[in-house]
Amino acid sequence: MEISVCDSYKILSKRVAIDIIQHTQPLEEPLVCIATGETPKGLYKELRERYNQNSLDISNWRFIELDEWLDLENDCEGSCLRRLNQNLFKPLNVNEEKVCCFDGKTNNPDDECQRVESFLQSYGPIDVAVIGLGMNGHVGFNEPGTDPSLRSHVSELDSVTKQVSQKYFSKSKQLSKGITLGLADLREAKRLILIVSGHKKATIVQQVLEEKISKNLPATLLRDHLNFTVYLDSDAANLLHPI
Ligand code: F6R
Repeated sequence: MEISVCDSYKILSKRVAIDIIQHTQPLEEPLVCIATGETPKGLYKELRERYNQNSLDISNWRFIELDEWLDLENDCEGSCLRRLNQNLFKPLNVNEEKVCCFDGKTNNPDDECQRVESFLQSYGPIDVAVIGLGMNGHVGFNEPGTDPSLRSHVSELDSVTKQVSQKYFSKSKQLSKGITLGLADLREAKRLILIVSGHKKATIVQQVLEEKISKNLPATLLRDHLNFTVYLDSDAANLLHPI
């Protein structure tokens, strides 16, 4: 695992954009997974700017969604798909056929997980996965206590996630479950990137990077991935101890 501390969120977003582009460039049909949430917004912007300046061609990329709320309309306010559509897929003219998303409204979540896993079997493993870090150490919706051998699955949202995620909705929302790629899927990604910004995350960053590997801090279970970079801005890195 490599840790890259960036002077600002803007620099972090730029470096991650360059990292993704460098890793996908030699590939014929790269499969890319980018989290939603607040943290990747700067990255989306960097990708949009490059696309608009004709310096980024993503016509050969495929995308897989990291996670989605279960039982919410797929394109409702706060849904992961809506955020990806608005920030990335529509502005970059990504063809729907190139995207595999979880249907959060499915009547049969097990079949839905199976469908996503079949997509991964056909087009995976993921070439580059960019994930964020929850205030409880979750990645995707792999909440504290998650079995690391799981692939796509339904997860019971942790109380911290339910509370923190209200920020994605204008009115208070009843959230109970998510549907998510599992740690086993993420661990198979050829390149794994974790992005974290802001002083609010400094404590969880310190725990995830310096405490014992544990199921209770799911992001620690990725630490031994062989091609893994954690990009932090200086606020998020503030409580790390010098090596
Ligand atoms: C979102 C996701 C979540 C977020 C995490 C951080 O697709 O998978 O794990 O990455 O909760 O969210 P932000 O960036 O809003 O702090």
